[in-house]
Amino acid sequence: MLPQDLLVPFLFTLPAYVANPSAVLWGGGTPMDFGRVARDGRRILGDGKTWRGFFGGALTGFSLGVFYAVLDGMSSTSPTWVTGRLLLAFAVMAFGALAGDVLAAFVKRRLGLERGARAPGLDQYDFLLGALLLLALADPALFTAFYLAGDRIYGLLLVIVITPVLHRAVNLLGYRMGRKKEPW
Ligand code: CTP
Ligand code: MG
Repeated sequence: MLPQDLLVPFLFTLPAYVANPSAVLWGGGTPMDFGRVARDGRRILGDGKTWRGFFGGALTGFSLGVFYAVLDGMSSTSPTWVTGRLLLAFAVMAFGALAGDVLAAFVKRRLGLERGARAPGLDQYDFLLGALLLLALADPALFTAFYLAGDRIYGLLLVIVITPVLHRAVNLLGYRMGRKKEPW
């Protein structure tokens, strides 16, 4: 196994890793469910999901993808269509990350969990699942090349293993900075 087989899947996931906590920094304003309540009497999503957080977070994560694509575009060996394809993939992943987060909030509310309540598993993996699933649907060949082909699968395993660790560390940081109400 080559070191880049571990590194490439991780680097490729970074725009999604950046998108999720960036939503915390951007968050505020109009909630995505506009305050509406579902049939079960609970909020559809709750005040923890706002439009500003969604688009601010996704675009912040995507900006890292733009940086990657610019680097790729500067390499003379990479054709323009590859750069474009990468841009699209990172957009899908950054928005997919926050779509996963929104979906998890929907599930949490249906389970009767209040905003900010702990949902082990869901809290740590919602954004990763959203990003990877949407990429796999949008560009299966690229998903395979970056996460599954050959020894890249070990890099994917590494991503899966370190995601809860990174999630915990970043949330603790956000909590200490007074940006997050709960350290999870
Ligand atoms: N946030 C936001 N919009 C989003 C996602 C996050 O404004 N689309 C902000 C909110 O201020 C939210 C904070 O980031 O409170 C932390 O995000 P998260 O932990 O995902 O939300 P919770 O407050 O825990 O709410 P939930 O239980 O619905 O996940
Ligand atoms: Mg939370």
